[in-house]
Amino acid sequence: MPAYDLIVIGSGPGGYVCAIRAAQLGLKVAVVEKDTTFGGTCLNVGCIPSKALLHASELFEEAGHMFQRMGIGVGEPKLDLPAMMKFKDEGVDGNVKGVAFLFKKNKVEAFTGIGRIAAPGHVEVVSADGRRQTLDTKAIVVATGSDVARLPGIDIDEKRIVSSTGALTLDEVPQRLLVVGAGVIGLELGSVWRRLGAEVIVVEFLDRILPGIDAEVGRQFQRILQKQGVTFRLSSKVTAVDAAGKRLKATVEPAPGGAAETIEADVVLVAIGRVPYTQGLGLEAVGVATDNRGRIVVDPHFATNVAGIYAIGDVIAGPMLAHKAEDEGIAVAEILAGQAGHVNYDAIPNVVYTFPEVATVGKSEDELKAAGIAYNAGKFPFTANGRAKVNLTTDGFVKILADARTDRVLGVHIVGADAGNMIAEAAVAMEFGAAAEDIARTSHAHPTLTEAVKEAALAVGKRSIHM
Ligand code: FAD
Ligand code: NAI
Repeated sequence: MPAYDLIVIGSGPGGYVCAIRAAQLGLKVAVVEKDTTFGGTCLNVGCIPSKALLHASELFEEAGHMFQRMGIGVGEPKLDLPAMMKFKDEGVDGNVKGVAFLFKKNKVEAFTGIGRIAAPGHVEVVSADGRRQTLDTKAIVVATGSDVARLPGIDIDEKRIVSSTGALTLDEVPQRLLVVGAGVIGLELGSVWRRLGAEVIVVEFLDRILPGIDAEVGRQFQRILQKQGVTFRLSSKVTAVDAAGKRLKATVEPAPGGAAETIEADVVLVAIGRVPYTQGLGLEAVGVATDNRGRIVVDPHFATNVAGIYAIGDVIAGPMLAHKAEDEGIAVAEILAGQAGHVNYDAIPNVVYTFPEVATVGKSEDELKAAGIAYNAGKFPFTANGRAKVNLTTDGFVKILADARTDRVLGVHIVGADAGNMIAEAAVAMEFGAAAEDIARTSHAHPTLTEAVKEAALAVGKRSIHM
């Protein structure tokens, strides 16, 4: 009999949640993690530290620009960057220790070392001191996550040419930050450093920011960020960065090619996406199939082509989001325990934690048009929401897309303060197959920003009250 029912490789949001759920269901579970702390990208160098800096820098900006308007005199706020970084690190520490506590509570055994699949049912763990041990198990879940995508010829030193990891630990505010990629990381971390005093220039290959997000949302959000002082160079690419001098010199070209120009910067942030991480796992030797982007191929039950080996999270296809990884972790644990685990990929929210936030769930207008689905759109701007007016947060809008025939909600898109919390209502509605009418007839507390969601639902039927 193998010692374990399940070995999870990787302790990020996918892996640790999977391990806990499997243990709850009575499986004997071990987790193998190569790093010295648990929680993966998300807790150590991703969601948690970035949100700590976004929160702190947002308050810093508010203290500098908004307090006086509300009659609060605190003088010019002063930045203590080492203290802000300490605040962020303490937040990370609390979270990663929380995972260690949950492992103990649920009797999940944790091994520190690099996990390699020696054969189906056998995981070899190599510790930092070179010690090797092989663990036997009925099933293996690979949850090894993702790593930074790199630009050929541009070496990330995490000091001046940084990935998100280095951008979370800069020891001074750069005078000018050049961001490569107007995706989620570029806009979130670009926002942090702009608020703390940097000039931020974002170079994006495509002709729009946040590809994949509803086009109208993207356009409006770009205008808001420009008003805040971020400069965008769309349809452009960075082809080289010369790090020889005191300042970095980035070569920027039009995306299709053409005359290059040089932009100087103190720090360059490379944020052009992430790639699945499968290094050292031994996938090829055991014959686990990957696709042309290096992602592990799984069936709808998260099973790979090799019996007893499963995969979840950033290392498989789908949005690279912590909650998607968690949902898959729960689903595969339930499947392994004989239950019917399932993830509804049509209702996974996506949030950009800038100010204002951008939050979406379901289909965009472009996707509905491409699929030939007739829809009605209901829109409501925050300028017409009472609470947003008194809070001085009137930027943005709510847009609800509903099936023209059935009124079923197919997509909800919000740009606005606290959009990330508000999108939960839309996700629940979609999970229950709600119609726009259902949201419109649900009582929403007054005065709250969520009334804009209700008004957008009313607008689907052309009967919003406050417009
Ligand atoms: P990971 O979190 O990457 O965890 C994988 C783990 O496996 C790591 O701990 C790694 O050390 C370990 N590992 C890898 N190989 C081995 C091996 N051979 N042996 C042992 N261990 C191994 N998502 C959101 O939803 N919201 C956000 O706000 C958000 N913010 C982000 C901000 C940044 C800056 C970044 C970079 C990402 C952010 N993400 C966010 C994305 C999110 O972090 C990922 O989607 C999520 O962490 C994926 O979880 P995972 O469990 O699949 O993998
Ligand atoms: P991304 O995929 O969101 O954006 C990358 C951007 O870079 C795209 O706009 C792309 O067109 C552009 N790009 C690609 N190559 C380029 C080039 N050579 N020159 C200029 N632009 C180029 O990737 P990002 O921002 O690195 O984030 C990685 C992942 O992390 C995302 O998939 C996201 O899901 C996740 N994440 C999620 C967060 C959240 O949920 N709030 C926060 C941060 C990251």
